[in-house]
This record gives sequence, structure tokens and C-alpha cells, in this order.
Amino acid sequence: SAAEKGGYDYFMLKEIAEQPKAVADTLLGRIDGAGSLTLDEVRIPVSVLREVDKVVIVACGTAYHAGMIAKLAIEHWTRIPCETELASEFRYRDPILDRRTLVIAISQSGETMDTLMALRHAREQGAKVLAICNTNGSTIPRESDAVLYTHAGPEVAVASTKAFLTQLVACYLVALYLGQVRGTKWGDEIRAVIRDLASIARDVDQVLETMEPVRELARSLASKNTVLFLGRHVGYPVALEGALKLKELAYMHAEGFAAGELKHGPIALIEPDLPVVVVVPSPRGRSVLHDKIVSNIQEIRARGARTIVIAEVGDETVVPYADHLIRIPATPTLLQPLVATVPLQVFACELATARGNEVDQPRNLAKSVTVE
Ligand code: AGP
Repeated sequence: SAAEKGGYDYFMLKEIAEQPKAVADTLLGRIDGAGSLTLDEVRIPVSVLREVDKVVIVACGTAYHAGMIAKLAIEHWTRIPCETELASEFRYRDPILDRRTLVIAISQSGETMDTLMALRHAREQGAKVLAICNTNGSTIPRESDAVLYTHAGPEVAVASTKAFLTQLVACYLVALYLGQVRGTKWGDEIRAVIRDLASIARDVDQVLETMEPVRELARSLASKNTVLFLGRHVGYPVALEGALKLKELAYMHAEGFAAGELKHGPIALIEPDLPVVVVVPSPRGRSVLHDKIVSNIQEIRARGARTIVIAEVGDETVVPYADHLIRIPATPTLLQPLVATVPLQVFACELATARGNEVDQPRNLAKSVTVE
């Protein structure tokens, strides 16, 4: 009913709008005034976490994209090797797991069969399993050694939005917590991350307030067949997530690429007027990746692509090459997905509406996939 949707036309719109509160709720009570993390609810003894020599993340779909970003955060902040794997592939390749492996299973519903089977397999091999989950008391947390709930509130729309942002926040918390218990030197960078996490809800809110041009752009592309998404580092999973949203909501052919791979094949797809969304890393700290992405934008524009550029406020280098420019607030590099994904959610939702699709219940999909 309209009341359930809180005055929005679709649950998806409501859930997109709830994201600032959802990310704040994920953080609630987990960072103290001194900037230390208190994750007592993660009932895996600190002595065990100190011995972990490998982290493996398993998840599906959008949760897998969160896991890809989490890998970068975990390795950067803790220096523990981490791999992220599609849960549906995991147990079929005889993965190397033992008592010193921490497996993180990410799932909104907590009922995804592929993810459940992957964690059962991991536990059989002696690994410890930590669930990051949004649904209290669901199967995945019940079968794990510990759980960190995302507290996003119920997500009804099939397309995942607030669950994704809160999965990211939970993953950052776990990464920082692993660093904390293992005595990673808390440098200025990590302190800045913790500080910026505390104000991330405001940044997400700011993005939401500037979405009208994105909606307009989406409507103008309603008759297109294909949209490509490019990113690097944390921007690559964001590109994959933007493409997944478009597939499931707009039923359009959409693909995400690591921008460095363009020249190894995908650039052949570029043709006049093809919409290409590019997620640009922050230019601060003279990031090499930033400059490389800017040359990618130049390359595809020279071949006629319609460039839709998502870039940090104040990044002027992209202006001459952007047919459409979507601004996001400055964040630490690893946190950028929290703001960069939001325009892609809005974009996909508006395109679905413009194409007359059922936003909350896309064809052929179920909210939780309880079969393998
Ligand atoms: C996302 O928009 C999807 N509907 C889907 O990819 C989903 O993220 C995936 O099925 C995993 O679900 P889970 O988080 O409930 O395990």
C-alpha cells in the first residue's frame, strides 16, 4: 500500500531515500568517542582473529560487489590476504581453507542458498565464519560463528540498495576491527577514515538532494539498448553494481568493466552516442589512477561515446570530457562507493520507470534466491 511505501511510488525509492539513516544505523554504537571500534557482538575470540592468515569473502550479486570492495579495504588496512568469491562457485573448486581462515559471508536476506552452502563448506573445513547480514535470526547468521547485523531495516524491493550501502559500512567496520585487534598502527589515514565514516550519512544525503539531473538523463536514455560502466579500484565494483541494477530493473544490456581492460577488448564496443558511465577516483593525493581514468574518458569520447562522468566535487580536469557530469562529495578513496553508487541506483530506477517496468518486482527475479 501507499502507506507502506511511506509516500513513495515504489519501495525502491523509499529504500534509496532511507540510505543516510541506514548507514548511520549500521554505525550506531560501534565507534566510541575516541575513534575505537567496539564490535563485542562479533563473538569470535580476539585470540582467534589475531591468528587469521587469510580472509575469504563469499556472496552473490550485489552483496558480492560489496565483498569486492571489502577485499580492497581489508588488504589495505590489515595487510591480511583476502579474496572475494562468488558463493555459487566457491565450494566447487576445492578452496584452500583451514582454522586460520576467516570466511565472511555477506547476505541481505540471510537465506541465499549459494551463500549458505559456501559457508557450510567453509565450516566443514575448519574455517571460522562471520556473517554480515540484514535479517535477524535468518539461516546464514544462525549457521555462522558470529554475525554483524547491518541494521538497514527491511528491504522490500528486489533490487538491493540500502542493504548494499550498509554491507559496505559493515565491511569497513570489520576491516578496521581486524586491524585494531591485530595492532595495526592507527595512522592518520585510518583516523581520517573513521572520522569520515561518522559523517558519511550527511554525504549520502547530499548526493540524494542533487539527483534531479540524473533522473532527467535517465529518461532521455530510455530508448537505448546498451549502457557501459567503467571504473577502477573501488570504482570497478561500483561499475559492476551500476550495470547489475540496470539489467535487473531496466532489462537493458549493461556491462561493467575495469577501465584498464578497455584497451584489451571492450573498447571495440564504443560507437557514436553509446552511453558510458565512468566512475572517477578522487584527484587528491595526485592519484595515478585518476589521470589514467581521465585519459580513458578522452579515448572513448574521441570515438563518439556519450560520457556520463561521476566525479568528486572540485575535480575540474574531467569537465571538458564529460557530456554529463554527476558530482559526489569528497571521501577517502576506499569510502567512495558509499556515495558513487547512489546516482547509479537512481539512474536505474528512473530508467525502469521510463521503460514502463515493474520497479519493485522485476521480471524473473525473487528477493531471496533459496535454491542453488
Ligand atoms: C541485487 O539487486 C539482487 N537482487 C541480488 O543480486 C542480491 O544481491 C543477491 O541475490 C544476494 O542476495 P542476499 O544479499 O540476500 O544474499
